[in-house]
Amino acid sequence: MFLTHLECPRCRATHPADRQQNLCPCGSPLLARYDLAAVAAAVTPDTIRTRPANLWRYGELLPVEDPANAPTLGEGWTPLTAATRYGRRIGVRRLMVKDEGLLPTGSFKARGAAVGVARARELGVTHVAMPTNGNAGAAWATYAARAGLRSTIAMPLGAPLITRQECLAAGADLRLVDGLISDAGKQIAALLAEDATIFDASTLKEPYRVEGKKTMGLEIVEQLGWRVPDVIIYPTGGGVGLIGIAKAIAELRALGWIGEKHPRLVAVQSSGCAPIVRAFAAGESRAQPWIDAHTVAFGITVPSPIGDELILDAVRASGGTALAVDDDELLRDLRDFAHDEGLLLCPEGAAGLTAARKLHTTGWLSAEDEVVVLNTGAGLKYPDLL
Ligand SMILES: Cc1ncc(COP(=O)(O)O)c(C=O)c1O
Ligand SMILES: [Zn+2]
Repeated sequence: MFLTHLECPRCRATHPADRQQNLCPCGSPLLARYDLAAVAAAVTPDTIRTRPANLWRYGELLPVEDPANAPTLGEGWTPLTAATRYGRRIGVRRLMVKDEGLLPTGSFKARGAAVGVARARELGVTHVAMPTNGNAGAAWATYAARAGLRSTIAMPLGAPLITRQECLAAGADLRLVDGLISDAGKQIAALLAEDATIFDASTLKEPYRVEGKKTMGLEIVEQLGWRVPDVIIYPTGGGVGLIGIAKAIAELRALGWIGEKHPRLVAVQSSGCAPIVRAFAAGESRAQPWIDAHTVAFGITVPSPIGDELILDAVRASGGTALAVDDDELLRDLRDFAHDEGLLLCPEGAAGLTAARKLHTTGWLSAEDEVVVLNTGAGLKYPDLL
């Protein structure tokens, strides 16, 4: 394993990676650091190319001692599909969708869960707990079951029904909360205060989920032939996927596997819950909590993301932007896309399409830009919405 330590991006303190860790004492999430010179000496893109089509092909850049022993369900290597007909409809000719709906549990959350649970088990964790907007809970409950760990999941009543059922099927201790993910977080905090044997696996409060999500960025680059697109559009709730993609690009540059070009990262939120967009527009480095959050794109209903600084940094450093879209627009784009391309996106992914359409209208995207939209989950998980 090439993981060396954990680093705080805010106060720059370093922490050992060989024990269970949550936030830095300064309150910031911690990020995993690797001996990248040793990685570059140990492996090349040509070697990786020959490996099985799952996220463990990037083992040298993952925080797991024994990937062969990870609780895998075949996660990773989702298709990056050209969406030519829909692209023509919105004037973005070189549009591609990376379809994370094909992963186990039907969302990209499987990546973070597979890697996070694998590392937690290596560090002696036997019971994980977390608040969720649904998909992450379903994924963590599933991978915890696969790994022989217990799980406690707190979820808003409004989360997609199937994600509750997935948790129960996997044997999780499920707590339903009449409120938002922030209220679910309070339930988990109370539970953790009572029982020190339970590990806090909340978004960015444990450092390894983001490493799993990083593989979305690694795959996009490899699937394009070890180069980056012009723009990557990501539906942002907690922002872990966006932070992970930015981290992937930074590590690939440090390894010398890609050039200096950086994709412009776009954080899409719903106009019913847009704390990052508001902070971006105001030039702030932190986001204020969003009051009365509400959107059909339930996965991105995160009123107060703990990774706000990291998200805003990543978007700004990439030359990207943040924008909010309305529910009725994203639902129309979801329908148009299914009609044009034969692929049913989740509402969060469809928000990315609306963002591409609007950014082209304003001229921020040119007709020549190569654009990747992350479809973070399967449309089939939202039968009521459809
Ligand atoms: C389908 C879907 N898309 C996007 C997100 C947002 O994820 P992130 O925390 O990486 O911003 C979620 C989170 O629940 C989700 O379920
Ligand atoms: Zn710190």
